[in-house]
Amino acid sequence: MTVVSSGYERKANELYETEAWATEALLRVLPPPPRSLEVWEPAAGNHAIADVLYQGGADVFTSDIVQYSRPHNAIFDFLSGAAVPDAIPLRALQAVITNPPYGKGNREAVAFARKALGRCPHCWVALLLTAKFDFGKTRMDLFRDSPRFFAKVALVDRIQWFAGEHGGTEDHAWFIWAPDGIGVQTPRLLYEGRAA
Ligand SMILES: C[S@@+](CC[C@H](N)C(=O)[O-])C[C@H]1O[C@@H](n2cnc3c(N)ncnc32)[C@H](O)[C@@H]1O
Repeated sequence: MTVVSSGYERKANELYETEAWATEALLRVLPPPPRSLEVWEPAAGNHAIADVLYQGGADVFTSDIVQYSRPHNAIFDFLSGAAVPDAIPLRALQAVITNPPYGKGNREAVAFARKALGRCPHCWVALLLTAKFDFGKTRMDLFRDSPRFFAKVALVDRIQWFAGEHGGTEDHAWFIWAPDGIGVQTPRLLYEGRAA
């Protein structure tokens, strides 16, 4: 998330925890059902996304560059790490799902998207990003020119990243890419939010 206009200090490693409803919204529209889905959460933080996936029936493998309060399957720098650790069963995975660090100018988020698509060509990839992340000429490879770009899920409610924050400060969306070879014709635009 971006904290520039919120008045809150940027947190170390950008540990911003995703409210459960946002992941529940993703699970309502992600084509493969969560039941028995093998998922890698590669920036797992305190497992806010992983827990919802698990409750939905998924097998979730977690990694992060840092260990917070919850143990991960692996400590792994997703951007600069070379070989994926053995604790992450890369070949068996069906999805990579996370809210990654965004970094200055969204540069880390862009790198996360490219790495996720490259590391797991046979996976669905779903990333929680700022709502206008698909704007910008330098990201055409991820959107207009990507045969895998499947859907943008605009979140019509705002995520609260800080205790005591009211209403959230920024719009977000899930961006979903399909496994290589599925042949997406036209990406979809969907709308989701907190369950009524
Ligand atoms: C915005 S938080 C999201 C945490 C969790 N996915 C969630 O939604 O609650 C970003 C997470 O990315 C992790 N992170 C930052 N740089 C990373 C890297 N290069 N590789 C893996 N994880 C990283 C941080 O430690 C932090 O847990």
